Amino acid sequence: MRALVLYYSETGNTEKVAKAIARGLSSELKKIEDVKIEDIKDYDLLCIGTPVHGFGPAKKVEKFLDELPVMSGKKGAAFCTMHIWGDKRTFKIIKEKLRNKGISFIDGFSCLGLSRLIGNFGPRIFNKGRPNEENLKEAESFGKKILKIVKE
Ligand SMILES: Cc1cc2nc3c(=O)[nH]c(=O)nc-3n(C[C@H](O)[C@H](O)[C@H](O)COP(=O)(O)O)c2cc1C
Repeated sequence: MRALVLYYSETGNTEKVAKAIARGLSSELKKIEDVKIEDIKDYDLLCIGTPVHGFGPAKKVEKFLDELPVMSGKKGAAFCTMHIWGDKRTFKIIKEKLRNKGISFIDGFSCLGLSRLIGNFGPRIFNKGRPNEENLKEAESFGKKILKIVKE
């Protein structure tokens, strides 16, 4: 079973969570910008990470998901960080886009991340210290849980 954690992160929050999930999953870890779309087919499980942008995945993540090859029978999961809300809708969109490629969605993990008031405006003073140690422990456990489900 080959698993890959793939993430996009502008200010580092989602990257921290990505590393913790990859630890739990004992998987490879790559930035979405660094991956070749033709190499993706080799993986049995894709775990996709994104910041919440406008109550959905970041545009780069949506584009990446739209460009994925059809991978029938493979499994997917997702994670996101956010200022306050939008995780549910983000997972719904990722789930639908994966389904379009024949990938079945297992579950999603979300937590708060250090942020500005709105989007790119203002100083980064909200959710200081997030994701915190506890969030990262939960993220690692999420990775372990997903691994167990895929192996069953
Ligand atoms: C353009 C933009 C749009 C955002 N939209 C939302 C949003 O709809 N809901 C929310 O809770 N946070 C929103 N945020 C905050 C980010 O999701 C949050 O800071 C996230 O942890 C950043 O992750 P990163 O450090 O991996 O880039 C937005 C941030 C940006 C820059």
